[in-house]
Amino acid sequence: MPLGRAETVFTYGAPQLKFGAGSSDEIGYDLSQYGVRRVLLVTDPGVAATGHPQRVAEQISGFGMEVVVFDRAHVEPTDVSLAEAVGFARDGGPWDAFVAVGGGSAIDTAKAVNLLTTNPGELLDYVNAPVGKGADPVNALQPLVAVPTTTGTGSESTTVCVLDVLEQHVKSGISHPRLRPTLAVVDPLLTMTQPPGVTAACGMDILCHALESWTARPYTSYERKSPEQRVPYCGANPVGDMWSEKAMSLLATSFRTAVHHGEDEAAREQMAMAATFAGMGFGNAGVHIPHANAYPIAGRVRDFHPDGYPDDEPMVPHGMAVALTAPEAFRFTFGADPERHVRAAELLAPVADRPDDLRDFLPDVLADLMRDIGIPNGIGAVGYDEGDVADLVKGTLQQQRLLATAPREASEDDLAGILHRSLELW
Ligand SMILES: NC(=O)c1ccc[n+]([C@@H]2O[C@H](COP(=O)([O-])OP(=O)(O)OC[C@H]3O[C@@H](n4cnc5c(N)ncnc54)[C@H](O)[C@@H]3O)[C@@H](O)[C@H]2O)c1
Ligand SMILES: [Zn+2]
Repeated sequence: MPLGRAETVFTYGAPQLKFGAGSSDEIGYDLSQYGVRRVLLVTDPGVAATGHPQRVAEQISGFGMEVVVFDRAHVEPTDVSLAEAVGFARDGGPWDAFVAVGGGSAIDTAKAVNLLTTNPGELLDYVNAPVGKGADPVNALQPLVAVPTTTGTGSESTTVCVLDVLEQHVKSGISHPRLRPTLAVVDPLLTMTQPPGVTAACGMDILCHALESWTARPYTSYERKSPEQRVPYCGANPVGDMWSEKAMSLLATSFRTAVHHGEDEAAREQMAMAATFAGMGFGNAGVHIPHANAYPIAGRVRDFHPDGYPDDEPMVPHGMAVALTAPEAFRFTFGADPERHVRAAELLAPVADRPDDLRDFLPDVLADLMRDIGIPNGIGAVGYDEGDVADLVKGTLQQQRLLATAPREASEDDLAGILHRSLELW
């Protein structure tokens, strides 16, 4: 890159944050500060069954606001499920604010609803090109309060809404700074009811957010952007690094306990903090190969039904799909920055012995953890075989926005190698 053309600028964005046990009891007060009268609360049936959304709705009503609950967010939203939610909201509007109570699925649904009740057009107008038209919203959105009940996606901090575009058989997203929630209310008590399978998959999502943003291509390695070209994901940077490192240390002490002893409040609190911190990190730095691979792994599922998730459709949950190729992806990226890969392994497993070949360190730490918390043994265990690798690679190559954040360029052959070696991990 010619001198003077290298990037020198990084950016950082985050919502307001209220964190801690009982913080979800204050949402009515918080909304009253925005002068809100009518609120749409978005959740999914599984979360609704825990009673948390109803309690939040009653608490908001206590401040004299009208609250309507939409409890049909689809677990891992699709263009069809989002259109249904948007239709419901457009018919019942106007709304002064939105509250999402749930995991990434409910929060992303609320982001789409907020966008399409305040702006013209339809979903695909805003979905990233080439899947959609990649348009920017022209109007400001309404306040969105995001209340995560999983410890995973960090969607309460990010500018992204992820969706499955059914007709095109592809996962894609809408990404714009205006989608970022106004306020994140992270109440660890709401996460205690997550089943172990959800805790395990969502926790691997946290871990990969932290690891991928920590190992992402540094922001200084890009060509200098003009102000209108700046994107929320700017590559590894000092602020993102800080959040990612802390998230990894929190996972080291809480992840296994949260899966095996879900009633442990301290572990749940640390996991909630790790999810939020990793969201603040990757929400500004970006993620790369494991997330790019996750899209076709989730999208092409045939007959896998994970424990703890709705049983009506086959699915590979997001965090599980991300985890399955992570050990091999980090073996591949090791050479780009050996020191960071070793440091990550040490943060995640402070007492693990260093193997002779340091290239094995992070993959070994990850596989050991995944085995312990019940993540399937590779993409073979969720139904793929050697004959599927070519199609999976094709799907990964569609995620150029994510691959561009990888610290090493991954060719078609490199990706095929990673997927092939991920058929069975141990
Ligand atoms: N926007 C982002 O930045 C971002 C980042 C990563 C992933 N995602 C997306 O988020 C979605 C996944 O979200 P997720 O992993 O948080 O899970 P989820 O929202 O899909 O929920 C998983 C399951 O757990 C249940 N559940 C959630 N909280 C519960 C609780 N406290 N008690 C009992 N059951 C509970 C839900 O009903 C559901 O069945 C995917 O669509 C993924 O692509 C978004
Ligand atoms: Zn993720």
